[in-house]
Amino acid sequence: MVFFLGLLKVVHFFALFLGGGSAFGMAVIGMTAPTVSTEHHQTLAAMAKKFKIISHTAIGLLLLSGLLMVIFGGYFPGVSAWFWVKMLALAVLIFGIIQAGKFAAIALEGDAAAGARAEMFGKMNIAALVVILIAAVLAFG
Ligand code: HEM
Repeated sequence: MVFFLGLLKVVHFFALFLGGGSAFGMAVIGMTAPTVSTEHHQTLAAMAKKFKIISHTAIGLLLLSGLLMVIFGGYFPGVSAWFWVKMLALAVLIFGIIQAGKFAAIALEGDAAAGARAEMFGKMNIAALVVILIAAVLAFG
């Protein structure tokens, strides 16, 4: 069981790197899109699509490994209130990832207003990620 829980923790952290990296990758694409000519937008769109797949996989792995750790790790009852702060920020992050992906796709078709919204959701996602990290450390660190 100790090995299994350790393995889940490794998966949890690996997914965290994947998700964090792709969130910054998406933000960089968002910042770059308005500064390059439209002929490059197709390349950026292809990159955004890949980052989207990576970030969705990362969230899936985080949810799965986190859930399994909670079930088999004996964290309940008596889990810290910070755990619930983490779950709330996680809900915000999942909502934000969906919205950012949706508006980024519209933006790459040349809609500047959608670009601004994608950037706004991108920033919100990074803020949610920071809250999740702080809450995770306060809950389990
Ligand atoms: C974006 C999503 C998530 C991020 C960024 C994240 C991040 C983290 C981090 C940084 C830690 C290490 C804390 C420390 O040891 O100081 C951690 C641990 C943990 N997380 Fe998550 N987490 C996420 C989702 C979840 C979910 C959905 C669950 C459960 C439903 C969960 C359950 C846990 C548990 C049980 C631990 C403790 C592991 C241990 O030290 O034994 N996490 N998480």
